[in-house]
Amino acid sequence: MKYFLLLIFILFMQCSKSAMENKAVETTEKNGYYTEKYRPQFHFSPEEKWMNDPNGMVYFEGEYHLFYQYYPDSTVWGPMHWGHAVSTDLVHWEHLPIALYPDSLGYIFSGSAVYDSLNTSGLGTKENPPLIAIYTYHDPILEKQGSDVYQTQGIAYSTDKGRTWTKYESNPVLKNPGIKDFRDPKVRWHEPSGKWIMALAVKDHISFYSSPNLIDWIKESDFGHDLGAHGGVWECPDLFPLDYNGHEKWVLLVSINPGGPYGGSATQYFIGDFDGKTFTTDQKTTLWLDYGADNYAGVTWSNVPNGETLFLGWMSNWAYGMLVPTEKWRSAMTVPRKLSLYQHEENYRIKSEPVEALNSLRNEAISMPEVKLTNSRHTFEKPIDLAEINLDVTQATSGTLDFIFENEAGEYIKLSIVPEKHEIIFDRSKAGKTSFSEEFNSIHRSPLLFDPASFNIRFYKDESSLEIFINNGEQVITELFFSDEPLNKLTIQASGEAILKNIKTYPIQSIW
Ligand code: FRU
Repeated sequence: MKYFLLLIFILFMQCSKSAMENKAVETTEKNGYYTEKYRPQFHFSPEEKWMNDPNGMVYFEGEYHLFYQYYPDSTVWGPMHWGHAVSTDLVHWEHLPIALYPDSLGYIFSGSAVYDSLNTSGLGTKENPPLIAIYTYHDPILEKQGSDVYQTQGIAYSTDKGRTWTKYESNPVLKNPGIKDFRDPKVRWHEPSGKWIMALAVKDHISFYSSPNLIDWIKESDFGHDLGAHGGVWECPDLFPLDYNGHEKWVLLVSINPGGPYGGSATQYFIGDFDGKTFTTDQKTTLWLDYGADNYAGVTWSNVPNGETLFLGWMSNWAYGMLVPTEKWRSAMTVPRKLSLYQHEENYRIKSEPVEALNSLRNEAISMPEVKLTNSRHTFEKPIDLAEINLDVTQATSGTLDFIFENEAGEYIKLSIVPEKHEIIFDRSKAGKTSFSEEFNSIHRSPLLFDPASFNIRFYKDESSLEIFINNGEQVITELFFSDEPLNKLTIQASGEAILKNIKTYPIQSIW
């Protein structure tokens, strides 16, 4: 009996040891999820491998869909698929299986998705209208053969909340007229004309097409041969209306690569009018949606409840996107932003504010007393590794104001506001890894779009990105950085005078 009890005891100890070991494995696995060096904690990034543009963004039955250019076999660009994720709050994301795979017509390049609520395509039923994805086919074989017609537009449909997609049997729905760059269809319903409108990037301009059913398309007009920036090819357009005090204006986003303000890729925009056929503008200057280097190919969600215009961009740049020092995955999206119009002098401009839903990630605010600087600097005591930092600034019109995110190892990134020169400068050249690309290692200067005497500034700082929103997004700067150690201290320094008020830091929770 004694031996029997001993045996039972030994067996019991063995079982609980292995249960504990299993638990330990489980815990490390969970803890290891999205904890790699540089892994964004509150931005969308794929679990692994290569991602570029956001695609097919559509809201449907409580879910924001995010598809994205995805290559599941490598951490550099390759044959494109549409990866897929959904979110109910625009903040937390659930990864779903790849939605669209390349086929005999080619890779699946960028495009959009719409809810065909009237079943105009006939690809669903009246009772269960379909979601339709409209995307570019890029045929690598034709391309290799030296043909000009390797990009065409195809569609696919889903009648199960975007979970499975069927490609339309008579693809492509829009053939190539003999122009190499012919891609990235962004489609919306145009109520006054009762038609679908497609904005398509065609080399150095945008072409508009219309369709009653998403299948038969006719060309309406061209825009932009001789307007805006033309240092590279035009890509990923988006056309949408925005209201300003009861006045409707139409906005056309156009991404361009290369030829952005810092050489690589960037997104410009035009504000004008659209009559269902033609986009017109009297805008003379080139306007950029973001004055940082890392917001590209961004477009807006379709079918958003209460008509909000919600935007997401690829937080990288073709100049070095495939070289950034992350190992398991490459690239992330910006935080989602709400676009609206504001008036700047005589003209309209776009304001991009972080969506309010991001506030749900805030931990308790750390408020700090007012700081007065006169040729001096102030370092905030609290560490700010993952944080939203919000403050109001008044400053003299002479001298420079620097915001420096730094660490004990001497690494830093710096934003400088120089009222005298009417300039804002972002410097990431002293933050750890920069030598993987000369184009990454540069200092970015842009014009001030706001009054520097008095402004609000908000930073969203993640593990390897900083997004800066001035006056709720009148000027936005999105920049990546790859410091060896976390940049967990903020120093503000003024040559001249500055007063910092209403300083609030919110530590931010990880979404993963
Ligand atoms: C923009 C882009 C698109 C194209 C896609 C390919 O970043 O070049 O024009 O459809 O990426 O991945």
